Amino acid sequence: MEIPIRPRRNRKSAGIRALVRETLLSPSDFVLPLFVHEKEVDEAIDSMPGCTRWSLAGLLKEVESVMELGISTVVLFPSIDDELKSSDAKESYHPEGLIPRAIRLLKKAYPELVIMTDVALDPYNSDGHDGLVENGVILNDQTIEVLCRQAVCQAEAGADIVAPSDMMDGRVAALRDALDSSGFEHVSICSYTAKYASAYYGPFRGALGSAPKEGDKKTYQMDPANRREAIRELLLDEQEGADMVMVKPAGPYLDIISDLAEQASVPVAAYQVSGEYLMIKSAASEGWIDEQAVMMESLIGIKRAGADLILSYFAKEVAQYLSNR
Ligand code: PBG
Repeated sequence: MEIPIRPRRNRKSAGIRALVRETLLSPSDFVLPLFVHEKEVDEAIDSMPGCTRWSLAGLLKEVESVMELGISTVVLFPSIDDELKSSDAKESYHPEGLIPRAIRLLKKAYPELVIMTDVALDPYNSDGHDGLVENGVILNDQTIEVLCRQAVCQAEAGADIVAPSDMMDGRVAALRDALDSSGFEHVSICSYTAKYASAYYGPFRGALGSAPKEGDKKTYQMDPANRREAIRELLLDEQEGADMVMVKPAGPYLDIISDLAEQASVPVAAYQVSGEYLMIKSAASEGWIDEQAVMMESLIGIKRAGADLILSYFAKEVAQYLSNR
């Protein structure tokens, strides 16, 4: 047959496939989310197989092995005791709170580690919402005041990047202002720019005991049906001074990642969330899919869509896989 143009020529051997491969994953693409709690023992997280709620001592050890694999950045999430939760979420900016202590400990041991922190009230709020709640309404502007105190407290402890995941309007500008006026011009803001009201966060809320007591997060997180709105959020976040913008979840929102990658003038992050992780893990544990292959494919897809950095619970496994090849 006369078929002069044969795309299969570029696929004919492993060597040629490697030569023309467009998307490569590297450990330095990844940010590993880590959970910490007050206890002295490390605890497996039932809702997220393979993940752990670390004691501070356990965290210190884990981070060492993470860095050895070439991952430079971790993002910390706290599991807070119920008695420390309140409707004003004041534990979120306690200088001796779990997160500031964890940051100081890590920075002292590993000064070159990049620490990202989550800025939102849900782990500390007795209502389980990312913002303050009054008569069932999530208060935007009052919440921002608390978020600013939280971010400054994290910066004081040594955070390199604060990542507001709360989706209040105007919080990036307010955080930039609060950080700058406290002498933290060097602290970056990675904004959860397009964070959707997603059912894929379920296992994470189980891990932290942070599910909302009443209602859902649809008045602040975005409607999964909307694409254009992500651009609106992007334009605002850039204008307000975000250094990085994030899309979350990642896998079901590749079009959004692609839109932001095309239009943003700052790096685009994507968060492969707990539900995405759990679906792969649980199907693999039944023997229904090849875990390693699906893990790599899910992450290559996210990077191919345009993500510059990826937050993923698989970060360590990917780095291990890459170093064994
Ligand atoms: C809370 C927060 C959530 C996640 C990261 N920060 C949950 C939520 O918004 O309810 C989800 C992460 C995941 O599911 O892996 N501010």
